[in-house]
Amino acid sequence: MAVLEIKKYPEKILREQSEPVKEFNPELQKLIDDMIETMYSAPGIGLAANQVGVSKQILVIDVSSQDEQCPLIVLINPKIVHATGEIAIEEGCLSVPDYTTVLKRKEEVKVSGLDRHGKPVEIESTGFLARALQHEIDHLNGILLVDRIGRLKKELFRKRYKIVEK
Ligand code: NI
Repeated sequence: MAVLEIKKYPEKILREQSEPVKEFNPELQKLIDDMIETMYSAPGIGLAANQVGVSKQILVIDVSSQDEQCPLIVLINPKIVHATGEIAIEEGCLSVPDYTTVLKRKEEVKVSGLDRHGKPVEIESTGFLARALQHEIDHLNGILLVDRIGRLKKELFRKRYKIVEK
């Protein structure tokens, strides 16, 4: 296993739509293991493949530090199939270092996808897991938390990062 370099805002790959995984080969298994090691070493509670430079729909999540009953999750080609409620929580991202913001997201989400061997899975989630799933699925669709904040917050963010975006 290896710790991979985490891509940081404003690298372009973070804004690209990731491709679905079609082959569940040893290469994929190695990438997943490396992503898990990279997430733990950061340390973080979730990581999407494009954050390590691979534009494929793979995410890993471990929120056991916040919710100890929750196991490590590996999800391929995930889709949110149902979402209800709304809750505002402070959120950060490994690709946007030293920045956190309070963000409104759905309170409960149901996600369908595949496990690391291609077997269909469905996850019903609330709390930290629901939050992490929405954040990582956003990554796979090229969306960062700074794309979900209001105009004023965004101006402050840009000033802080000294970056002018179109
Ligand atoms: Ni993130």
